[in-house]
Amino acid sequence: MSTINNLDLQNIPRHVAFIMDGNGRWAKNKGQHRLFGHAAGVESVKSVIQTARELGISYLTLYAFSTENWARPSDEVEGLMNLLVDAIANEVDEMHANGVRLLTIGDIQGLPGNCHESLLSAMNRTKDNTALTLILALNYSARQEIIKAALAAHQLMQDAQLSSTDLSEQVFSSLLQTKDIPDPELLIRTSGECRISNFLLWQLSYTELLFTDTHWPDFRREAFIDAIANFQKRERRFGMVSEQIQTTK
Ligand code: FPP
Repeated sequence: MSTINNLDLQNIPRHVAFIMDGNGRWAKNKGQHRLFGHAAGVESVKSVIQTARELGISYLTLYAFSTENWARPSDEVEGLMNLLVDAIANEVDEMHANGVRLLTIGDIQGLPGNCHESLLSAMNRTKDNTALTLILALNYSARQEIIKAALAAHQLMQDAQLSSTDLSEQVFSSLLQTKDIPDPELLIRTSGECRISNFLLWQLSYTELLFTDTHWPDFRREAFIDAIANFQKRERRFGMVSEQIQTTK
């Protein structure tokens, strides 16, 4: 197990994204309802936010609800929305005091009214904070995000504000919901599945992927520090060869 003292503080990822999976299985293993697992998952969210601040990570993106998650049983969907509203109500003061800025990606207008309103209010309250940006992906689909960006590019071309030759990767990135957020250096998915599930498909092009068997409710500070230690052992080559990376260091 790694400790914070073993980490290279000059090589902390600026942005870490999480697919928080395994709440249901964790609860089932304990003979409990799935919502018990989601509630325990909120404690992991708190631990990961605190650890990110401690490590000096600037951006944390959490996949909290995908557009596909609406297909779950209605009591689970309702329970998840209530957990989100409660978590914001309970945590916003501390988040604000700790300099955390809340942002969302996804279509939050499609969430229940009380959920939408509490998110807007928390985002407004924390908008000037700079210690850590917490991005919640809610009612999010990466494919939808990319389609919307393509339509926005098309509109700019129709309005003669953009020519097709000027549509660079940078310009396209600026049309995504993540326009002001650097791409994640590290994606962590808990609970053993090795897939991306329609999350940040454009932004993850060069991201290091880490899949762990730990269920999300068990993923706390120690597991996060271990994941950062794992990240620090990797060589990010961006299509180059190892010798080139060594000389640019
Ligand atoms: C995946 O586990 C988890 C989710 C779909 C929801 C994640 C939500 C939370 C952790 C709580 C609320 C979030 C915030 C930001 C306060 P799963 O249910 O798919 O697990 P399973 O694959 O074991 O069934």
